[in-house]
Amino acid sequence: MRNLLLAAAILLPAAAGAQSPEIARGGEIAQTWCSSCHQVSATAPTKDTIPGFPEIARRPTTTADRLRGFLRQPHGRMPNFELSDANINPLVAYILSLK
Ligand code: HEC
Repeated sequence: MRNLLLAAAILLPAAAGAQSPEIARGGEIAQTWCSSCHQVSATAPTKDTIPGFPEIARRPTTTADRLRGFLRQPHGRMPNFELSDANINPLVAYILSLK
């Protein structure tokens, strides 16, 4: 049941397009917490060595589950980088919306 609700939380906003509040919130989080290292949107400046979110979104291997799993771990040499599900779900919806 929990998985179904999570899937709905991810899929419904994506289907609704960029106007979805969850995607908008994910975009704000990405801008605040991720843009120092990542290209966070198609129009943002690209970074040399770190994959951009549009590129990540387009990979055939990228799924909501994989993104969620990845974001539960710290990465990018930020020791205290801990995201709660309340932030991960909007971020995942946002990244997948860039496809
Ligand atoms: C301090 C720099 C830094 C910050 C801030 C950062 N990242 Fe990253 N990120 C990286 C680096 C470096 C990699 C590639 C190496 C790795 O996987 O650790 C990466 C990889 C990723 C990947 C996986 C790419 C792949 O190849 O599979 C995702 C997804 C991702 N970041 C999402 C995020 C999100 C979402 C945020 C903001 C909440 C964020 N990152 C903030 C440095 C950063």
